[in-house]
Amino acid sequence: MRCILAASLAVATLAGRVLAHPAVSYGADDEGPVRRRKTLGFGPVHPHAVFRQVPQQPLPGFAPAPLRDPVEVAKHFVGGLLRDQLRAESGFVVRKDSYTDKATGVTHVYIRQVVNGIEVADGDINVNVKDGQVFSYGDSFYRGPAPSFYSSAVVPHPHADYCTELEYELESQQDRFEQWLGAAGQGEQVQLVRRRFNEALHEPLKRIHSMNCAFVNLPYDLAHKSTAAALEDPRHALLQFMVAATPEEGVVQDILAKYDEYLEGMKSTFEAHLVGDMQTMVEVIDNVPDAVSPVKAKLAYVQVPHGDKTTLDLVWKFEVEMKDNWYEAAVSAKAPHRIVSVVDWASDSPLAPVPKEPTERKLATYNVFAWGINDPSVGNRSIQKETYDVIASPFGWHGLPYANDPTEDDFKRASKAVKNTTTTWGNNVFAHEDWEGRNAWMYNYRPDAGESLNFDFPYEPKLTNTTDALEEAQKYINATVTQLFYTSNMVHDLYYRYGFDEVSGNFQQHNFGRGGEENDAVIANAQDGSGYNNANFMTPPDGQNGRCRMYLWNTAMPYRDGDLEAGIVIHELSHGLSTRLTGGPANSGCLGWGESGGMGEGWGDFLATTIRSNKNYSDYAMGAWAANRPNGIRNYVYSLNETINPSTYKTLDKPGYWGVHAIGEVWAEILWVVSQRLIAKHGYVDSLFPPAPLDNGTIPSGDFYRPQEYTAAGEKKPLVPKHGNSLMVQLVLNGMKLQQCRPSFFDARDAIIQADQVLTGGENYCELWKGFSSRGLGPDARVEGRTPWGGGIRTDDYAVPKACLED
Ligand SMILES: *[C@@H]1O[C@H](CO)[C@@H](O)[C@H](O)[C@H]1NC(C)=O
Ligand SMILES: *[C@@H]1O[C@H](CO)[C@@H](O)[C@H](O)[C@H]1NC(C)=O
Ligand SMILES: *[C@@H]1O[C@H](CO)[C@@H](O)[C@H](O)[C@H]1NC(C)=O
Ligand SMILES: *[C@@H]1O[C@H](CO)[C@@H](O)[C@H](O)[C@H]1NC(C)=O
Ligand SMILES: *[C@@H]1O[C@H](CO)[C@@H](O)[C@H](O)[C@H]1NC(C)=O
Ligand SMILES: *[C@@H]1O[C@H](CO)[C@@H](O)[C@H](O)[C@H]1NC(C)=O
Ligand SMILES: *[C@@H]1O[C@H](CO)[C@@H](O)[C@H](O)[C@H]1NC(C)=O
Repeated sequence: MRCILAASLAVATLAGRVLAHPAVSYGADDEGPVRRRKTLGFGPVHPHAVFRQVPQQPLPGFAPAPLRDPVEVAKHFVGGLLRDQLRAESGFVVRKDSYTDKATGVTHVYIRQVVNGIEVADGDINVNVKDGQVFSYGDSFYRGPAPSFYSSAVVPHPHADYCTELEYELESQQDRFEQWLGAAGQGEQVQLVRRRFNEALHEPLKRIHSMNCAFVNLPYDLAHKSTAAALEDPRHALLQFMVAATPEEGVVQDILAKYDEYLEGMKSTFEAHLVGDMQTMVEVIDNVPDAVSPVKAKLAYVQVPHGDKTTLDLVWKFEVEMKDNWYEAAVSAKAPHRIVSVVDWASDSPLAPVPKEPTERKLATYNVFAWGINDPSVGNRSIQKETYDVIASPFGWHGLPYANDPTEDDFKRASKAVKNTTTTWGNNVFAHEDWEGRNAWMYNYRPDAGESLNFDFPYEPKLTNTTDALEEAQKYINATVTQLFYTSNMVHDLYYRYGFDEVSGNFQQHNFGRGGEENDAVIANAQDGSGYNNANFMTPPDGQNGRCRMYLWNTAMPYRDGDLEAGIVIHELSHGLSTRLTGGPANSGCLGWGESGGMGEGWGDFLATTIRSNKNYSDYAMGAWAANRPNGIRNYVYSLNETINPSTYKTLDKPGYWGVHAIGEVWAEILWVVSQRLIAKHGYVDSLFPPAPLDNGTIPSGDFYRPQEYTAAGEKKPLVPKHGNSLMVQLVLNGMKLQQCRPSFFDARDAIIQADQVLTGGENYCELWKGFSSRGLGPDARVEGRTPWGGGIRTDDYAVPKACLED
């Protein structure tokens, strides 16, 4: 293990490109007030974590397969897996967000490790069970001896090894960067790139270093003052974290100057929470500087590598909601100056029972860029109907029970009746203006179409100059909120039909009694005033609202409005999808940094590109209209042509590929190439939306699914999308559900291949492998010296498994 812990630039925004290509012009984003959100994202790497397939295992003495309770099967399996490896103090609980996927019949069981009665926050096993058999699992459980709870053992001094590693990393980054720049010569572009390097990578790393290693310089010498108290009192660790996390230098200075005052001001209450069937105590701390809501704190263990050994460190686990971030942080409980890991939930960027014939109310209409038109450069607006999917949105897009409407008073909320709105307010999405760029959203302005439900508002932006550009853009707020509402609802319904439903953690106020946690529709801010030229999404665990913020782009005159570029909206909403599906609905910490954080970006680009594509193949850029750059906001456009987009797995080794967006671009390109192989084999369907159910609830195959097949026992098999593009979307979503928390490229690739095994019996095994291999992600691709921001030395493999050599 060369490096234990380091910073990644997990800028979870749409456009995080920082230092990729010095030759590219950065255009207007150098001039305008570019929104650069501060964000932290780093944590230990777990070399022992695996994602594995399990050969068919007969379990002697068990009931016939279909009768077995999948959770019992999973528990039995995990018991076997851990036999002889865990000590008496160690156990596990089955998380309540485990679920059975109605479409595939796969039960996804999430298991959390418990040592000394305390959760191991990164000790996860996810077990995939079908027909009474475990067929794959991911495992990052800790295997060493349990620490004694109050052991004074390991700790404090500023983990010398860790700080040395960080210093080494800082230096070698600088060296590599200088070397690379050396070849690029001088000039303005190079200066710009240098500045960006410092801002984006070097400064944050230095900051982490000083937060964690400048032990002796702390104003109150916390090493002595708070170490003893920290185990009982999370406030020390929390204040330390806020010092590192706040983007406001003034707040930092103020905390340092009035440390005791802040400490006293923070008041705690206690709540009992259940993890599986284990009760844990959560401390809820109010008055935390720069947090916008009370912070949740609980004791947990995390696994930290020390040299070549991994130990369990006791930490305070915090959930901190701030204006621009929503952090899940682990701070050492024994050395409260030390942040062990941080994930920012903000990312910048057979189906359910069929309800009765739903709404009889008038359907809304919207003057919008129709689904499939990516942005104003490819088509004009037209009047579209409220074409909601009856399975995904039984009350339509404008109906929700009074009980789930947070703006209603207690009296109204006692009613189960359905409220029908005439604004952009519904069960899936609350869309509105946020010119002030604030956190408040409930009473923000929303267009009201009145009884007609006709959301037809003008959009005729006139040529402007900088003085009146903002004012001009704001004139069309009615049209842009309408568009954001329409696109977001379409995305909700589409992902629902591919399996992002209530039990798997989707975003809805009301769940129609279908399970999962409620009251978590997407809060969608149009024209968010906190900046320009970006977009972001915050994904807390199931049961808390996701937040989508869209910005104006000052890249052209008149300003361009991100709300009108479907690809950007889809990218952002896909963060919610991948975060909730990976590692289970209640775990939002699985795509925090490095390769997993990068894929969190890549899935969004891939889905946005797939949705806008049509039967005639074409290359596509991401964000080209909003950014006013033909090649968009990534290094390359998505293309089958290796000259146009040369990305392979090994591309991740290059300087400029340390941030999640660059990593994500490589992943999205690989998926794009793979999907074209499936399209070549299975053809293309114009609409990705599956057919509506018949009156008796049956989903007809139509031209969308293959004819229904049955098992030997006469049961329906999962419906299989017939065409290449729809099948790929299905495999990508099913793969997210199979893969483990903090997946690597290899894990996510294997999960997609396995999703095909489950769905079709593996008939696309060779097409999928050939696709992945063509971009270096063959079976023998390797990485050595993996680092938490995605660094390492990679080897491409262009070979395919033996079984695929024949044809
Ligand atoms: C909303 O519309 C539904 C379906 O058309 C109707 O049953 C319901 O009564 C309406 N709600 C109210 C409060 O009018
Ligand atoms: C939009 O409509 C105008 C006027 O009919 C037409 O000139 C223009 O080409 C259309 N734009 C696109 C992108 O189709
Ligand atoms: C900008 O536009 C406004 C309104 O169109 C005009 O009054 C003003 O003179 C323009 N300013 C410049 C610098 O062109
Ligand atoms: C938005 O629409 C409402 C209702 O039609 C209208 O009163 C208002 O002036 C519009 N807002 C803007 C900025 O045009
Ligand atoms: C695809 O190309 C054909 C032939 O050029 C054209 O007729 C058709 O309209 C195109 N389809 C789409 C969806 O662009
Ligand atoms: C790939 O792109 C390059 C550069 O645009 C072009 O010269 C080449 O013909 C393309 N290859 C194919 C197979 O289309
Ligand atoms: C539902 O209706 C369709 C068409 O009428 C019929 O083919 C199918 O067998 C029915 N399914 C059930 C479960 O009744």
